[in-house]
Amino acid sequence: MGTATGRLTGRSALVTGAGSGIGAVTAELFAREGAKVVVADIDETKAAQTAERIREDGGVGEPFAADVSDEAQVADLVEFAVASFGGLDVLQNYASERSLVGRDVFVADADPSVWSRQLGVDLMGCVLTSKHALPHMIRAGGGSITNATSLAAWLSLEGRPAYATAKAGVIGLSKTLATEYGKQGVRCNVIAPGHIVSPATEKMYSARQTEVMLDHVSAPRLGRPDDVALAALFLASPESAFVNGHVLVVDGGMSAYAPMVPSFRRLAADETRQ
Ligand SMILES: NC(=O)c1ccc[n+]([C@@H]2O[C@H](COP(=O)([O-])OP(=O)(O)OC[C@H]3O[C@@H](n4cnc5c(N)ncnc54)[C@H](O)[C@@H]3O)[C@@H](O)[C@H]2O)c1
Repeated sequence: MGTATGRLTGRSALVTGAGSGIGAVTAELFAREGAKVVVADIDETKAAQTAERIREDGGVGEPFAADVSDEAQVADLVEFAVASFGGLDVLQNYASERSLVGRDVFVADADPSVWSRQLGVDLMGCVLTSKHALPHMIRAGGGSITNATSLAAWLSLEGRPAYATAKAGVIGLSKTLATEYGKQGVRCNVIAPGHIVSPATEKMYSARQTEVMLDHVSAPRLGRPDDVALAALFLASPESAFVNGHVLVVDGGMSAYAPMVPSFRRLAADETRQ
């Protein structure tokens, strides 16, 4: 991921969902770039493992186990970050409820408990962490919040409506936060990964489905967690001081083309073979 240049030196960061995948790689990158990082995850063991990797790498990382859908736990998490590092400058929300895949089905069969958990973690998690982080950021004169959405927010996956709705809500929430708190120096942006190979997506998609993903990326390879982490670093760092309310798509061009392009490619390949 290149040589660290201290782009977050002196900053205190809180990363949720940092026990795995994109959140873990982001927490590790931010620590390498000089941030002191609270590694938050509902999975205590995974949070501890990420924090351990940060320390082995010479960085500062403190694990904290919390369920982001529970306000009391979020309040404790933010207080822990502020008490550990004397403030909170950067908030990164990657926590996502992945266990509902298969139960988040077509709307005619919707299970309200599935919807409430998906929205509770993926959307309300961003609301609650922001709610508790904002007073500290405002008091310090500013901060940067980045929330993870998905292409699913505007390109239907057909069959994961609660996830799509939660991720669409993240965009509305983030633009509102950008507007409400921008004058006080707090920026809020959104990161929208396309298909990124992570422990979650490796479980979610078969090898053949992953091949289809590659077919739909306008890049020579699939996305990696560090592709997203590097974009998140820009949004967290002072280099993006005037970027607020933006949705940064990191998808290798997956959402850039007209829907018929892959079919045209296949037709052209068939014609070449004939
Ligand atoms: N990987 C992709 O292709 C992809 C694509 C689009 C969007 N995203 C988004 O990026 C983010 C990270 O995705 P990933 O693939 O790295 O996921 P992941 O499943 O590897 O990581 C998510 C982490 O969130 C934690 N978590 C789950 N529920 C929680 C809760 N209630 N409180 C706190 N932590 C909780 C999990 O334990 C896990 O460590 C997610 O928000 C996801 O929706 C990912």
